[in-house]
Amino acid sequence: MSSVTVRVSGKVNVQLAVGPPRPDGFHDLANVFLAVALHDRVTVTPAPRLTVSCAGPGAEQVPLDGDNLAARAATVLAAHHGRAPDVRLDIAKDIPVAGGMAGGSADAAAALVACDALWGTATPAAELAELAAGLGSDVPFALLGGAALGEGRGERLTPLPVGGTFHWVFALADGGLSTPEVYRECDRLRAAAADDVPAPRPDGALLAALRAGDAAALAARLDAANDLQPAALSLRPALADTLAAGRAAGALAGLVSGSGPTCAFLAADAPGAAALAARLSASGTCRTARAATAPAAGPTTIESHA
Ligand code: C5P
Repeated sequence: MSSVTVRVSGKVNVQLAVGPPRPDGFHDLANVFLAVALHDRVTVTPAPRLTVSCAGPGAEQVPLDGDNLAARAATVLAAHHGRAPDVRLDIAKDIPVAGGMAGGSADAAAALVACDALWGTATPAAELAELAAGLGSDVPFALLGGAALGEGRGERLTPLPVGGTFHWVFALADGGLSTPEVYRECDRLRAAAADDVPAPRPDGALLAALRAGDAAALAARLDAANDLQPAALSLRPALADTLAAGRAAGALAGLVSGSGPTCAFLAADAPGAAALAARLSASGTCRTARAATAPAAGPTTIESHA
């Protein structure tokens, strides 16, 4: 094989229930992942040594050294098979960088799938999932796509049925937020409020709305669905204006996506999403707004050359 290109989806967390900090620094979660049709593409090509390029909006914020999550994915898969990670990785970004949509995790999942095909290593799915969990809490879901409940630090997945297509609009921000900082701010706000933090539990009504493909019922569960939202708003107060603009523009509901700063809005249908995206783009409260459907597929090979 002379090159392989894999397309991979971003995600929104329709529920992100966060428990207290664990001794290992992570938090137990009840994390309802939904893959959305905003896509990155990762192309791998044999090369004398591992190198990375990245193009697209926000590419200048993506590390191109050994810290790059896709590069780490190539390295751990190569080590797993006792070979050298001798590839060039070209990342074409469309998922917002550091946006709370797991773009880096998506690139890592795509790199695992692309390198596995390029090298002909045919790694069993369970082994790929284990390598993915070692790379980051969101990487196993990025390998799966669709919808899933993530427990533990988000890596223990149970696929979830989804009964229809949901129409989302994403308000993309200028600049990212650091996930560890958002978790730290969540802990700080809870400690300051002396809040009792219960063990995270999936919301049964929210799972039923997903299963039914019922946008109005899902919207009714989204207002307090993301425990990281108060922390993201505390670090980036202007996101309150973005959320208000989306609601004023007719969204069924809006929430911060994961650790932010992307805000996600649910629309009733495709025309509703297109109108909402246009109004949000013109609102001056975000860099741009994009409509995208969910659920979206896991990593898909779109090109491979012998
Ligand atoms: O697993 P990942 O490297 O993506 O996590 C990034 C950071 O987010 C962690 O270092 C941790 O600070 C925070 N995190 C957490 N609890 C989780 C997942 C992530 O505290 N379940």
